[in-house]
Amino acid sequence: MRTIVPTLSLLLAAGVAAAGNVTGDADRGRRIHLGEEQIAGVAACSTCHGTDGNATQAPTFPRLAGQYAEYLVYALESYTNGTRNNAIMLPIASGLTRKDMEDLAVFYAAQKGDLRDLSEVITD
Ligand code: HEC
Repeated sequence: MRTIVPTLSLLLAAGVAAAGNVTGDADRGRRIHLGEEQIAGVAACSTCHGTDGNATQAPTFPRLAGQYAEYLVYALESYTNGTRNNAIMLPIASGLTRKDMEDLAVFYAAQKGDLRDLSEVITD
């Protein structure tokens, strides 16, 4: 741990974040998320997924903050390769390159998530 923590800190300071096999530029991901860096034909993710990736406009809009980066890239690619069908996310995911997806994914993975399991509800 002693050697790992400073190394991670250095990577984070350089704006590079790694989560599993996904490596990306979390700061660029944040800019795309907020619409500060515009991608043609792609609406700012924050309008539907919340400024910090936790708010949702409707119960069916998933929280992205705190999710595993690998899962988020997989989910985005699932829209583009047709294994996951959603009329809203298909055109959005289709406008993203693999690098855009990775940058966004490491940004969300680094956010504090409101995700929780049922351990608070199920007591025995
Ligand atoms: C117009 C609203 C809207 C915008 C803008 C939007 N999303 Fe979504 N997003 C949704 C909805 C609705 C879903 C749920 C779709 C489904 O049921 O598969 C979703 C699902 C996702 C998922 C799957 C999450 C999971 O838990 O499986 C990811 C990842 C995602 N969006 C990323 C993004 C990114 C990155 C952007 C910006 C480039 C973005 N979204 C912009 C509405 C939006």
